[in-house]
Amino acid sequence: MVIALLIGRDEKEKKSYDWFIEDISRQLLNLEPSLDLRIWPDIGKTADIDFALVWRHPLGALKKFPHLKCIGSLSAGVDHLITDPELSKETPILRVMDPHMANDIVQYVLTYVLHDVKRVSHWEQRQKKKIWAKQPPFNFGDKTIGIMGLGFLGKKIAEALQFIGLNVIGWSSSRKNFPHLKDFAGKEEFFDFLSQTDILVCMLPLTPATKNILNHDTFSQLKPNACLINLGRGEHLLEKDLLAALDSKKLHHAYLDVFSEEPLPSDHPFWEHPDIHVTPHVASVTQPKTAVPQLLKAYKKLLNGEAVVNLVDLKKGY
Ligand code: GLV
Repeated sequence: MVIALLIGRDEKEKKSYDWFIEDISRQLLNLEPSLDLRIWPDIGKTADIDFALVWRHPLGALKKFPHLKCIGSLSAGVDHLITDPELSKETPILRVMDPHMANDIVQYVLTYVLHDVKRVSHWEQRQKKKIWAKQPPFNFGDKTIGIMGLGFLGKKIAEALQFIGLNVIGWSSSRKNFPHLKDFAGKEEFFDFLSQTDILVCMLPLTPATKNILNHDTFSQLKPNACLINLGRGEHLLEKDLLAALDSKKLHHAYLDVFSEEPLPSDHPFWEHPDIHVTPHVASVTQPKTAVPQLLKAYKKLLNGEAVVNLVDLKKGY
């Protein structure tokens, strides 16, 4: 088996992922000691490559592998891959669906939902001023978390939030009918969903249909004084609409992990905005230790004609 590892759109970006490349290579060679592993750009004969593992690969590079049987995205989202205009429409794509990553993202959402609902910043301000003033607790009861996107990760987030006693509703493109979760589906029910939401969590895949979905019209349908947590992709958000919604107090806060330009430029207004928390795309970081065995196993199953859960539906784009 010959596997190519393509990470980073260019040499500079690749360099920033040295640690990731090293870890993935180690995991691959642990599992398959006789593996012929080629790391872009040292690919050797392109016709040898059976399987390519990619994260933000150099655009156009994959079309150079004439015998490629499968592509494995080293991430849950595959927009970085399928937006390559030169990608073959025939090659199956696998993505990471890792319970460990799901735990990370669940913990991230719990942290910031609780930060918001329990008003951690309020207590920090009070401490700075040495104010000891009891008041009734900030309660969950009247807050509703609306999750956009009820795939593998969105569903786990909903379950965890419900477990700690929060009201949760969900919205996705098609009806899910999960027991115990009120879910809304499609464009027709979108505004209904928003009108019941205090904290909006975006877990959507990035597709032409979801690009810029976090915009003025969306924000204006939310309950008063709402909050946004975006863990999808930066391109889901119209940045100027967010700034306007915060200015007008339609939204009181935003927690953002993804940005249309990453790394977020140092002069970007989000960095210093008092009502925005920025994290550098860390809500769920691919863990080679678990992701690599999963992708390798799925690749082998696919070659044997067996069903795999993490196969991307190329028509849907996720
Ligand atoms: C991270 O953003 C991922 O898609 O896995």
